Amino acid sequence: MKSIRDVDVVGKKVLIRVDFNVPLKDSQMGGKEVSNDGRIRAVLPTLKYLIENKAKVIVMSHLGRPDGQVIEKYSLDPAVLRLQELLGKIVINCGDCVGESVLQTVDQMKEGDVVVLGNLRFHPGEEENDENFAKELAGLGDIYVNDAFAVSHRAHASVEAVTHLLPSYAGFLMEKELETLGSLVKNPEHPFLLIMGGAKAADKIPVIRSLEDKIDAALFGGVVANSFLASGGVDLGASKLEADKLPVAKEILDELRKNNKQILLPIDLVVSSSIDGSGEITTVKVGDKFDPSWKALDIGHETIDQFIEIVHTAKTILWNGDVGMSEVSPFDQGTKMLAEAIVEATANGAKSIICGGDTTGTVTNFGLADKMTYLSTGGGAALEFLAGMELPGVKALG
Ligand code: 3PG
Repeated sequence: MKSIRDVDVVGKKVLIRVDFNVPLKDSQMGGKEVSNDGRIRAVLPTLKYLIENKAKVIVMSHLGRPDGQVIEKYSLDPAVLRLQELLGKIVINCGDCVGESVLQTVDQMKEGDVVVLGNLRFHPGEEENDENFAKELAGLGDIYVNDAFAVSHRAHASVEAVTHLLPSYAGFLMEKELETLGSLVKNPEHPFLLIMGGAKAADKIPVIRSLEDKIDAALFGGVVANSFLASGGVDLGASKLEADKLPVAKEILDELRKNNKQILLPIDLVVSSSIDGSGEITTVKVGDKFDPSWKALDIGHETIDQFIEIVHTAKTILWNGDVGMSEVSPFDQGTKMLAEAIVEATANGAKSIICGGDTTGTVTNFGLADKMTYLSTGGGAALEFLAGMELPGVKALG
């Protein structure tokens, strides 16, 4: 894989794919603003390198899933504003990503200028990996850089097709993601603890399967844990779970047991009559009956104690998925205490790698992001990579 270090970028039009698919919130000034700028900060080293080395930097990204239509709420404007603040220089916002006016803007660029193209997914050709759309994009640059690991599991025009049209290189973030996640998979320091939570067991199962032989312990929380508990016949009232995943969840637990891997499932749960925090809330032991209309929304204190204990024994921790409904207080307590334990383990020498937009967002909201070893920008891409799948955007870089 060729790196941007391997090419002279002076005076060149560098078409760089980034992933500015960032969460937005209402701004006090009206409109929207970026609520977590982790993905924008993560590409700053590459962008600054290009600016300092006198490239003409043409940034392209998607935001959301507008399905090939121009939908205002998916505009990249808030991301462009944030990028401008972070770079401390004017960034030209193109509004669109192809067409005559974009070509004119690019033609007028000077060395060190930064232009951000409009949302790629406003055009159907992007997700169709369409060659003609890729040609229009490629026509804007002299070379192509992929610094968007987080979208490299998608064979889209700006990720895959474009690499057949321009000399293509990996950016610093792409290199860092592949190196960090790659060495985690190849050569983890033991004991290696895998923490899987969040809402969807379906996404996590291939990762557990792929890392089964490498890990020493697996810890389950959130809706993922509900499915694993239910696979053993535990009644969880109205709690969310994936009924169709119970047989495979049971199979995985059996395999882990057979291979002497430590398994940590919740032993008590915080259950409530309402998911917005306004209802009755109590803690029950797993297996005890509770009102069938109530839902499990967090792990209980006994579980937290057990989880913290195992975290402190680990030398490598890979975490994807919150262990409770952490966007609603007080159901964020389990995830918060787990995150704090991981921070402590990290300070004591463990390597902690957090992936998935929800979990990295949660850790950032807790103010703990810079106390972890590494926060991957990848959600689905990181899971597919960790599950041993080949990412089209990575393959295309050779
Ligand atoms: C992500 O947020 O995981 C990436 O930006 C990919 O987005 P997508 O799942 O809409 O393709």
